[in-house]
Amino acid sequence: MFSRLREDIACILERDPAARSWLEVLLCYPGLHALVWHRLAHSLWRREFHVLARFLSHLGRFLTGIEIHPGATIGRRVFIDHGMGVVIGEMAEVHDECTIYQGVTLGGTSLAKGMKRHPTLERGVIVGANASVLGGFTVGTGARVGSGAVVTKPVPAGATAVGNPARIIQAETDAAREATAARLGFSAYGVTQGDDPVSLAMKGLIDNASAHEHQIALLWAALNRVLEEGARASKADCVPTDARTAEQFDAEGLSKLVK
Ligand SMILES: CC(C)(COP(=O)(O)OP(=O)(O)OC[C@H]1O[C@@H](n2cnc3c(N)ncnc32)[C@H](O)[C@@H]1OP(=O)(O)O)[C@@H](O)C(=O)NCCC(=O)NCCS
Repeated sequence: MFSRLREDIACILERDPAARSWLEVLLCYPGLHALVWHRLAHSLWRREFHVLARFLSHLGRFLTGIEIHPGATIGRRVFIDHGMGVVIGEMAEVHDECTIYQGVTLGGTSLAKGMKRHPTLERGVIVGANASVLGGFTVGTGARVGSGAVVTKPVPAGATAVGNPARIIQAETDAAREATAARLGFSAYGVTQGDDPVSLAMKGLIDNASAHEHQIALLWAALNRVLEEGARASKADCVPTDARTAEQFDAEGLSKLVK
């Protein structure tokens, strides 16, 4: 129990620039207190002392302003920052390293008993202030939910969901660029960020160069196959679905980027 507490305090010191000492965190962080109440309530819930568990959770809510149903599963190093108004439903699962800000609801849209009504937040998810994540779906590893968003559908790993109804911003481009960066051992995002025009032009050029590399690799693979298998090589094997068989050079788009 004390090692979990130490871990919780360390994670708050890491993630909140306003936290200065472990004593301050221990005394002044309702998110930490709510998790301690929840652990007690959850262990009673699992032993089927349902009313007592609900009562402890109710006391925890009274003292912290954070309502966590005792049936909810909360992982390690979860940080509920500020916390007032947070509601976490019975079937919610919050995996390790998640961060949840004030006013967040992890709730349901259905009253049907027996089905998973509340969401699962996979590892490292961040849910911004006053966001509502409603339903028994999953928010993927490392995804971010913007403050005030209302999310009613799954969010892919690494994606950012904002707005009401929530829409995914940038997930595909970022995922593709990160894959490219991993392949090249270099990430333009690591150098500059945001709307800087030079950075945007760099990103556009890198995307373009990487698409060319990919097409060249496909050509060599097809050539190899033809050389090895001769007439036995089928067209479907040699021309994969992402091979560009027609010219697609976006001169206009690239010129706009470098202007
Ligand atoms: C969602 C979030 C993580 C996105 O951060 P980011 O990746 O840096 O995104 P950007 O700021 O570059 O914004 C990208 C786009 O999303 C929009 N956007 C960002 N956050 C938004 C939000 N919460 N709601 C609606 N739109 C949002 C931006 O306006 C921008 O739109 P545009 O491309 O049309 O200009 C961040 O904005 C957020 O809401 N964090 C939660 C912070 C919080 O709750 N803090 C509480 C402290 S007490």
